[in-house]
Amino acid sequence: MITAVYPGSFDPPTCGHEDIIRRAAAIFAKLHVTVFTNPQKATFFSVNDRVDMLNHMVEGMDNVTVDSCQGLLVDYATERNAGIIVRGLRAVSDFDYEFTMALMNKKLASHIETVFIMTNPEYLYLSSSKVKELASLGANIGGLVPPYVETRLKDRFGYPQT
Ligand code: PNS
Repeated sequence: MITAVYPGSFDPPTCGHEDIIRRAAAIFAKLHVTVFTNPQKATFFSVNDRVDMLNHMVEGMDNVTVDSCQGLLVDYATERNAGIIVRGLRAVSDFDYEFTMALMNKKLASHIETVFIMTNPEYLYLSSSKVKELASLGANIGGLVPPYVETRLKDRFGYPQT
């Protein structure tokens, strides 16, 4: 029975994240989706907001839990007996960052493996920052984020709900 952690900023969670969560949940017995907070990185949504949006996203996925953490990813994974870190990989541009992070985590905790799930091509261009930019300009973000996240974004940017 393999437990995995899917860590991220999720600011906000997108349909790309949801796709990775569904596919990872179908592979692993248990999946912890965990919002990691970085005091050096300003975020648009609070940790509680991001956990709330993720909780909506994983409704009905019985082997998935949502959590937040301020510490080291490998410590969190070890505490939860998770031997796998799941990361989504979009394009060549993600590779350097992901490769460095995976190697650093391996150096910190050799018993933990990072497993990459290739993005669904439909979401190749999708990122939380692009979604925020589009939402701030009033563009249609339907299909890029789940309806609940769309509502929360429109709320924050003061756009009328349709
Ligand atoms: O969604 P992101 O911003 O690409 O996620 C990055 C995240 C949260 C996975 C990374 O910053 C992380 O693991 N933070 C926890 C602190 C930690 O363990 N840092 C060392 C990573 S090598």
